[in-house]
Amino acid sequence: MTIRATTDVGDAVAALRDGGLVALPTETVYGLAGDARNQPAVARIFAAKGRPLTHPVIVHLPDAGVLDRWAAFVPPWAQLLADAFWPGPLTLIVPRAPGVLDTVTGGQPTVGLRVPAHPLALEVLRAFGDGLAAPSANRYGRVSPTTVEHVLAELGDVLEDDRDVVLDGGRCGVGVESTIIGAWDDTPRLLRAGAVTAEQVIELTGRDVSRVDGGVRAPGTTAAHYAPAARVMCVEVDALSATVSTLTGRVGLIALSTVPLPDFEHVRLATPADADEYAFALYAALRAADDAGLDVVIAVLPPDSGVGHAVRDRVQRAATAGVRA
Ligand code: TXA
Ligand code: MG
Repeated sequence: MTIRATTDVGDAVAALRDGGLVALPTETVYGLAGDARNQPAVARIFAAKGRPLTHPVIVHLPDAGVLDRWAAFVPPWAQLLADAFWPGPLTLIVPRAPGVLDTVTGGQPTVGLRVPAHPLALEVLRAFGDGLAAPSANRYGRVSPTTVEHVLAELGDVLEDDRDVVLDGGRCGVGVESTIIGAWDDTPRLLRAGAVTAEQVIELTGRDVSRVDGGVRAPGTTAAHYAPAARVMCVEVDALSATVSTLTGRVGLIALSTVPLPDFEHVRLATPADADEYAFALYAALRAADDAGLDVVIAVLPPDSGVGHAVRDRVQRAATAGVRA
């Protein structure tokens, strides 16, 4: 039978205890969760996504109190971040505790940990009582889901109605994946931009942040990673007129409501008022472009501050994927 979405946390926890998978909402994007101590369950997450086994997955925790079951060591500056931002859109990559599955860490000596802020995810985690491995609930290389409809479109035919559960928690509030900070020595490393910004990390820890999100990336965050089928072109506001004058085909547009538009035929995919709304709207807009069969999506980049940095990063990756395809 085709799997359908539910809000029954009890069913979700029972499925996890039996080694099943649960697609669940977090405040960033939907995740595909399984018991992080259960090797066959974690293996099924990779199979469902079509994800290479070398890509580590994030372990989601009910609270920071269980950190030492998963981390061999947490630098004091990283503990400050956990105290300040958990539950919330921050993942810490720390040295792993003994017994953490190799499948979870992709064979790395580190493990990625976060406490998500969505009430349903927290309810599931607290009832389950320990770590849930959960990458974003999309097929490998595709845009992360921010609604339960996206999850069903991505994974509806690989999840099994009699052992897995899809939880409906509405639309994800943040809309882009968590900030990832490497925390294995004295230096905070920004491995993936998100709603928690480098500036916030600097302010809280009093340390410089090494920004590697645009260069060397965490395994699994390859440049061409968040891609719709339509060709994505990202442009700064000043370059919009020149870009649209060269276009053919059906064009979609994502731009802040404040951006002045040249005269050109297009489908408006999103009109966010600020960077937060841009993050919230981005992935749904990219999916809408594919649903409408558009050829090109022009994404006018928001200013590089706050979550705008993460939006720029995701749009640039989507554009890179188009160039390579
Ligand atoms: O917001 C999010 O982080 C969402 C929600 C579901 O929590 N999850 C998510 O997971 O985006 P995923 O698997 O799509 O991306 C996790 C990324 C990996 O691609 C990898 O870059 C990094 O986290 N990661 C996880 N564990 C790591 C480790 N031990 N070492 C280095 N990078 C790691
Ligand atoms: Mg992902």
